[in-house]
Amino acid sequence: MYVDEIIKLSKNLSEELKHLRRDFHQYPELSFKEFETAKKIADYMRELGYEVKENVGKTGVVALLRCTSNGPTVALRADMDALPVNEMTDLPYASKNDGVMHACGHDLHVTCALGAAKILASFKDNLQGNIKILFQPAEEINMGAKAMIDDGALEDPEISMIFGLHNNPEIPVGKVGIKEGPLMAAVDSTFLSVKGRGGHAAYPHRVIDPIVCASSIVMNLQTIVSRSVDPQKAAVISFGSINGGMANNVIPDEVKLAGTVRTFDEKLRNKIESLMKRTVEHTASSLGCEVEFNYRRDLPPVINHPNATEIVTKAALEVFGKDGIVEPIPSMGGEDFALYQKIVPGCYFWLGVGNPDIDAIHPWHSPHFKADEDSLWRGAALFAVSVVIALKKPGNQLQ
Ligand code: NI
Repeated sequence: MYVDEIIKLSKNLSEELKHLRRDFHQYPELSFKEFETAKKIADYMRELGYEVKENVGKTGVVALLRCTSNGPTVALRADMDALPVNEMTDLPYASKNDGVMHACGHDLHVTCALGAAKILASFKDNLQGNIKILFQPAEEINMGAKAMIDDGALEDPEISMIFGLHNNPEIPVGKVGIKEGPLMAAVDSTFLSVKGRGGHAAYPHRVIDPIVCASSIVMNLQTIVSRSVDPQKAAVISFGSINGGMANNVIPDEVKLAGTVRTFDEKLRNKIESLMKRTVEHTASSLGCEVEFNYRRDLPPVINHPNATEIVTKAALEVFGKDGIVEPIPSMGGEDFALYQKIVPGCYFWLGVGNPDIDAIHPWHSPHFKADEDSLWRGAALFAVSVVIALKKPGNQLQ
């Protein structure tokens, strides 16, 4: 094992990683527009001796290091996109692209993957198998992982395990959150159109009011989680958009609603969809309205595979020590890393970047988001050690 050397190398890389991260941070790019980011990544990876494919899944980059011909291919994934947020930090390396910010810290993920790539390249001759690094676009709009997979990123050579990380300002720097099983929720979307018959708001008896009907639907749907879901299980039904009407005294013909549903469990997911359909249709018919109910499954949940989680935990013991590993509370947020985990065993973990002394306390997507950069070498080391363990597993039986 090369663990001690990897940790030493990572620490030595710390300044270079900060420099790289600050450059990505200053020039953030939106989903599927990561042109400059991808170019910088491709150049860096080529320099390290990786075979590089660009424009995978539109703006993605896949880098491959062939160590020896007999062995599995282990993958790392880093998402690259930023958000339409106006940065409000006072950092000297704050965003120079107006209205765009790495407010979810994907610049840190890219940097950790580049650091791991550099470390792993120096052990190339001692590792069995291949290392593939996926630099993924468009995570924020749930489309990048699918685009990469559809474009063959997991094939040629086929990968047998994948690791990914997200920074987490709620976890202090120097710690890492690792958990087997469910970590992040399945993401579904729902779109409703409630149709009545509009007219003068002073004569409600002459109209069929879609506003009252839509309001009842929203309220009745709240009883699904409170009355029909096991209180020990987690689920969310939220509406983020309700639109209808233009004037205070005119009842419109139609009201449109859009919402999101989050669950961890496939059975519960199915149950909620059918209960929603029933509630929506019956509420509408009881008030004389027509309704269109659409339900779309966007992402499966992030479920960490026992074998992959065991490898990351072993690696984390080396990099963070026993006291550095925390068991995180699962998040109702979603992550398209889940799509890779539907295909191969994978582990997604949370890298601590929180530090109140430098104001690294703001949540993901905040215009004040900050991260402690001493997390970078740790993330790179954890990625690299996980890959080394995965490649060296006896018989390479990763499944
Ligand atoms: Ni993110």
